[in-house]
Amino acid sequence: MPSLQELIQTHEQEINAFQPANAADLEAYRIKYLGTKGIVKQIFGEMKNVPVEQKKEAGQLLNAFKQLAEKKYEDFQHLQSDAAKKGPALDNTLPGTKLPLGTRHPLRMIENRIVSIFEKIGFSVATGPEIEDDWHNFTSLNIHKDHPARDMQDTFYVAQNPDWVLRTHTSSVQSRILETQPLPVRVICPGRVYRNETISARAHCFFHQCEGLYVDKNVSFADLKQTLYYFVTEMFGEGTKVRFRPSYFPFTEPSAEMDISCTICGGDGCSLCKHTGWVEIMGCGMVHPDMLRNFNIDPGVYTGFAFGMGVERITQLKFQVNDLRLYSQNDVRFLRQFQSI
Ligand code: PHE
Repeated sequence: MPSLQELIQTHEQEINAFQPANAADLEAYRIKYLGTKGIVKQIFGEMKNVPVEQKKEAGQLLNAFKQLAEKKYEDFQHLQSDAAKKGPALDNTLPGTKLPLGTRHPLRMIENRIVSIFEKIGFSVATGPEIEDDWHNFTSLNIHKDHPARDMQDTFYVAQNPDWVLRTHTSSVQSRILETQPLPVRVICPGRVYRNETISARAHCFFHQCEGLYVDKNVSFADLKQTLYYFVTEMFGEGTKVRFRPSYFPFTEPSAEMDISCTICGGDGCSLCKHTGWVEIMGCGMVHPDMLRNFNIDPGVYTGFAFGMGVERITQLKFQVNDLRLYSQNDVRFLRQFQSI
């Protein structure tokens, strides 16, 4: 049997020579020497066999041995933290993952602008459903069953119910307002509308309109014109010219279409204005007395004006977008161009 001293010496040599290469080596070392069943513990267990007169010296030897074993372990503990660093460490100083910044859709930007221009002069926003019934989309607006205007607005019918359509214009919201709101009313109604059109650069089966309605005592065509002049100046700037052409809508009388001088060529003539210098931006007119009567409003007491504009057209004029399909293709290269506006 080797003496305690010899035993310690052999292990001391082993410990001194030990060079762990990685955290696993170090852990094996810890278990071997410092673990609960490790060599240090075992040698301490031998103390009971040491004669009393040698106990003091043996105790000192053992303590020195234990310290040596522990120091070696501590000297290489960096291996453990190195290993931990290689794992999925959290570095709080790293900048966070940047989420891409979205942009407002150009149509929404223009819609917001239209709404805020009218809000400044006391219009409030009203909306209505996109699936409409025949009454609100057509009949209440004097567009009766066999009316040719129904052909003008090739309609999507909802298969489950022949009385339901995808609204062909936001004028349906006019009906809902006159039906429910006490007079006077002054509303602007933005929304999506649908028509059964073949999709091309110039036409789409859905697009956006903004409807305006003002009904009160003594509302005149002059009020309509002045309101729309104001809108055009705010939207397109001073100096934009306006002209009204007589037109026809079943729910307004008299009716007009309003053109503005072409914002692209300034009126000189270009492909957008088909070399006329003018672009049509909306339909308008005085609310038809029959329409007022449809909602039990006395046209002898109340009069009103209404207008409806295409949001795509205004956007096209503002941003020179030449293909309607771009608005719904979700191409981020197109959409990002409006980031800084
Ligand atoms: N609803 C008409 C259209 O879609 C526009 C319009 C609205 C005309 C209000 C007159 C008054 O073309």
